[in-house]
Amino acid sequence: MTRETWTAVDVYVSELLAPHDEALAAALESSEEAGLPPIQISPPQGKLLYLLVKLLGAASILEFGTLGGYSTIWLARALPEGGNLITIEADPRNGEVAGRNIARAGLDGVVDLRLGPALDLLPRLAAEGVGPFDLTFIDADKVHSPEYFTWALERSHPGSLIVCDNVVRDGALIDLSNEDPAIQAQRRLHEMIAAEPRVEATTIQTVGVKGHDGFNIARVA
Ligand SMILES: C[S@@+](CC[C@H](N)C(=O)[O-])C[C@H]1O[C@@H](n2cnc3c(N)ncnc32)[C@H](O)[C@@H]1O
Repeated sequence: MTRETWTAVDVYVSELLAPHDEALAAALESSEEAGLPPIQISPPQGKLLYLLVKLLGAASILEFGTLGGYSTIWLARALPEGGNLITIEADPRNGEVAGRNIARAGLDGVVDLRLGPALDLLPRLAAEGVGPFDLTFIDADKVHSPEYFTWALERSHPGSLIVCDNVVRDGALIDLSNEDPAIQAQRRLHEMIAAEPRVEATTIQTVGVKGHDGFNIARVA
């Protein structure tokens, strides 16, 4: 199987099971127009997040890494009435685009967009007493995924889910000679999760429009 086949299958699945409505299509178009990198999750992955929110009955969500708000829209639109989502984005230009996309999707009353590097914002969020979160989606700077996981775990409850994206990276996860700090962080994340008695977790490899990668999904016991 080639990347061409993975992409074609993703397109087939997206068209049938995860089609874009106006808001999702406009979110991607306006992100492209504004020059944002096309590094958002794929439509089937967006639908997976949507389904996880629904399956959990999640009412409070924390997201690391908003970009143009594409994953935010998938997550937030699965929330029940009265639900809320905090999303953290370091780049103000991305935040501006995301804010417009989230408002266009009619979700500005649900989504609380926080601008700034996550490690700077987390102490402020802690002081505000946010959480616990039913679901956390970690998809920002990969080098800090373990720190975000630890923070989210402290603000979870039994049954909460923590989902981390891009943990496989074309298989680089298991290449011990790879010195890229973002890859080493994924190994650190796995080792930390394996040693953490408060969670049960697995990593699922994915192929598709985004190549070969994977999600880690951890459930707080
Ligand atoms: C992979 S993109 C997020 C994609 C988005 N979740 C989606 O699927 O639509 C990663 C985002 O994290 C942001 N980011 C990078 N470093 C960050 C940091 N230290 N704190 C918060 N956000 C950060 C980037 O600016 C970028 O927009």
